[in-house]
Amino acid sequence: MSDGAIPKVALPSSELVPALGQGTWAMGERRSSRAAEAAALRLGLDLGMSLIDTAEMYAEGAAEEVVADAVAGRRDEVFLVSKVLPSNASRRGTVAACERSLRRLRTDRLDLYLLHWRGGFALQETLAGFAELLRSGKVRYWGVSNFDLGDLRELVGLPGGSEVATNQVLYNLTRRGIEFDLLPWCRQHQVPIMAYSPLEQGRLLRHPVLHRVASRHGVTPAQVALAWLLRQPGIIVIPKAADPAHVRENRAAADLRLTAEDVGELDQAFPPPQAKEPLAVL
Ligand SMILES: NC(=O)c1ccc[n+]([C@@H]2O[C@H](COP(=O)([O-])OP(=O)(O)OC[C@H]3O[C@@H](n4cnc5c(N)ncnc54)[C@H](OP(=O)(O)O)[C@@H]3O)[C@@H](O)[C@H]2O)c1
Repeated sequence: MSDGAIPKVALPSSELVPALGQGTWAMGERRSSRAAEAAALRLGLDLGMSLIDTAEMYAEGAAEEVVADAVAGRRDEVFLVSKVLPSNASRRGTVAACERSLRRLRTDRLDLYLLHWRGGFALQETLAGFAELLRSGKVRYWGVSNFDLGDLRELVGLPGGSEVATNQVLYNLTRRGIEFDLLPWCRQHQVPIMAYSPLEQGRLLRHPVLHRVASRHGVTPAQVALAWLLRQPGIIVIPKAADPAHVRENRAAADLRLTAEDVGELDQAFPPPQAKEPLAVL
């Protein structure tokens, strides 16, 4: 049962987005699963998880086609995020990649467009592409993904770079390295963090301490892992779920309140970083 509303996170523009959205990595890989995947995303929308994260990379564009099916007829309810591959992220390449994504998504705009990770093109090139997409209305905001603190500092020092609307990074109980420096810096500069692989792609869910905390609340380990992220301000969490039971569970995680005892136990089992760790990626 979901009783409360999903909390919101403010983008630097002050626009609010849901703190709990939906990922799409691995969707679209098998034609026979596409209808079920789109149905799972639609169920998530019905339950208020209206931010959908996809990328041109996922299933070589087929994940975006699944998203198109999911949002058909209800595009205005959705905050749609996609990503450009670094190998496409020149000025012209960024614009062209976005136009291809828009065609696959069967929409006229992305709400947020991210550089998937830093590659060979100069950041100024990608920023110029983003600027062109903002001007033409094809993109409403832009951001980055897999940027460690040094990359972010460099980015915000460039003309227009401080308009970055998010940094999407790997963050979950077993991947807490960003708490040392990246997360505090992003908080201070009002750059929301989008936590990807919040369940460590399912590997996290076998941990005995997660099971112990979950059983105290009569919930599942996945719900504890998501609630642990959701209790923190400024974090957008994007679990991927193609199974409708998982979608419902994930939505209900937004209603779970962890106690100080729970958080203490989780800190013991998954200690926070004591020193700088290079940004982990998947
Ligand atoms: N920017 C980047 O470089 C980057 C990298 C990785 C991921 N991402 C984004 O972040 C999203 C989420 O990350 P992810 O897909 O890597 O991993 P994840 O969300 O941590 O885990 C997804 C896996 O967990 C399962 N699952 C979901 N909810 C569950 C529940 N309540 N109980 C048990 N199992 C559950 C899913 O199964 P079912 O599908 O069968 O329900 C799926 O196998 C991606 O889909 C993608 O959009 C971005």
